[in-house]
Amino acid sequence: MQQLDRHLLAVIQATDIELRAGAELLVAGATFRVDNGDRVGLVGRNGAGKTTLTKVLAGQIQPAKGVIATSASVGYLPQDPRTGDLDVLAMDRILSARGLDEFIRRMRQAEVDMSSSDSKISEKAMRKYSNAEESFQSAGGYAAESEAATLAASVGLTTTVLQQTLGTLSGGQRRRIELARILFSGSETLLLDEPTNHLDADSIVWLRGFLANHQGGLVVISHDVELLEATVNRVFYLDANRQVLDIYNVGWKEYLNSREADERRRKRERSNTERQVQVLQAQADRMRAKASKAKAAQSMYKRAEKLMGGLEQVRQGDRVAKLRFPTPSPCGKTPLMATGLSRVYGSQEIFTDVDLAIDRGSKVVVLGLNGAGKTTLLRILAGVDTPDTGEIQPGHGLKIGYYAQEHETLDPNRSVLENMLTASGDMNDAQVRSVLGSFLFSGDSVQKAAGVLSGGEKTRLSLAMLVVSSANVLLLDEPTNNLDPASRAEILDALHDYEGSVVLVTHDEGAVSALEPERVLLLPDGVEDLWNQDYLDLISLA
Ligand SMILES: Nc1ncnc2c1ncn2[C@@H]1O[C@H](COP(=O)(O)OP(=O)(O)OP(=O)(O)O)[C@@H](O)[C@H]1O
Ligand SMILES: [Mg+2]
Repeated sequence: MQQLDRHLLAVIQATDIELRAGAELLVAGATFRVDNGDRVGLVGRNGAGKTTLTKVLAGQIQPAKGVIATSASVGYLPQDPRTGDLDVLAMDRILSARGLDEFIRRMRQAEVDMSSSDSKISEKAMRKYSNAEESFQSAGGYAAESEAATLAASVGLTTTVLQQTLGTLSGGQRRRIELARILFSGSETLLLDEPTNHLDADSIVWLRGFLANHQGGLVVISHDVELLEATVNRVFYLDANRQVLDIYNVGWKEYLNSREADERRRKRERSNTERQVQVLQAQADRMRAKASKAKAAQSMYKRAEKLMGGLEQVRQGDRVAKLRFPTPSPCGKTPLMATGLSRVYGSQEIFTDVDLAIDRGSKVVVLGLNGAGKTTLLRILAGVDTPDTGEIQPGHGLKIGYYAQEHETLDPNRSVLENMLTASGDMNDAQVRSVLGSFLFSGDSVQKAAGVLSGGEKTRLSLAMLVVSSANVLLLDEPTNNLDPASRAEILDALHDYEGSVVLVTHDEGAVSALEPERVLLLPDGVEDLWNQDYLDLISLA
């Protein structure tokens, strides 16, 4: 990575970048710059290479070819939250972005030694304390600390969470910590990979405003159309079919319009040319028979060929997973019941005394604010976590299919195919491959280790595993995160037609509408109610 001359003002300059994943070409010949004030939306279908490109821009990996130069401090939010030392307090992790955590650690250490009965130790500690505090103050001090706390609250982190160590937090909470940390860092350039995943609706609205006002450079990957509409003034479209990065120097709405106009223009040019070619060929066919005109006919054929060759291909649309959830295996009238479930973390009650009965084929949405324990409840129902009180009563024939927010049901070291075979029980290799095909894993891609898959590909694989398990109760935790719009629509369609029971946790109003739930379970109180449209508004608040 080179240092850019600051006078040039470009915060990132990328020249002739080529990206590969293993042997596969993702993009070639990408040249662009991002200046202060540029807010770039980086879009493209799942697996196109967006995450790979931002990793390269962040200096985490090297491109196969080309040069990246950056002139400013870069804050990078990865799609995968698993970073950082697990024993660090959440608040300290945020403060570390400006080096404040170190001073606080020294102050805390000195505080302990100050109470020593040995006066030598305590006096030394007092000096240490005032040194540390001085450094702390000059780095922004208590004002910075409260700024960090405000930012953290804006992305939905409670003060309790901030006092926990990273190791005790959920994946969603850790991502929010990382997001707060980057925003707190004051980096000039922000590279954010799907920043709205795991955020509640309030935080998403807040983040939109924050990013729209960001003065430095910004590259944001998102499938959230409202966020793109509100924030970006340029769009980079990574076209996975052509391995090209198309650059549009306009905002989101205009980008959509000009892509459509481009596509129409290409179609028009194509049909004009095809007409010309037909005329030429017909003429040549007639002339070919006569020896005196055979040569002219030849050159007409050539000319026709050339015209066709000069045409841009009409671009293929992205392929989409076409899928149906299979008929669930038979089960009793109420396959899943639970009574008196409660869960405590430390001294905090998450939820208390939750009763639940999931009837065959019923659809239930779990609603609750961030931290109300929605993910915990699903984990308990799925049997991967145990409740502090209460119990699960499996009904006759119960077969649970659990979709975890963090894809923890995938074994990252085993291949796509192996993961599927484990989930499918008695299906054979060919049957499993055919389901994988409908989820867009074909050819060599079934041999990839699950760990290297892109975010959307992991989601697709996890859902494919549910499909082959013939489960009759699906527990779905944010199943539409990471999916590109076309795949999301397809999954929601399949969910709409599914005959089994579903317990759904989501921030996605569209997902709830597709499910057409009969009931809602409100956390942390565990109150059940019949579904009505007013609850849809609550989802956008939850
Ligand atoms: N080590 C690897 N070996 C093989 N393929 C890889 C490897 N790492 C990444 N890939 C593949 O590279 C492609 C691009 O991945 P990337 O994560 O950049 O996609 P993305 O555009 O961010 O997708 P999403 O929208 O799903 O997050 C994917 O098909 C992924 O499976
Ligand atoms: Mg990605």
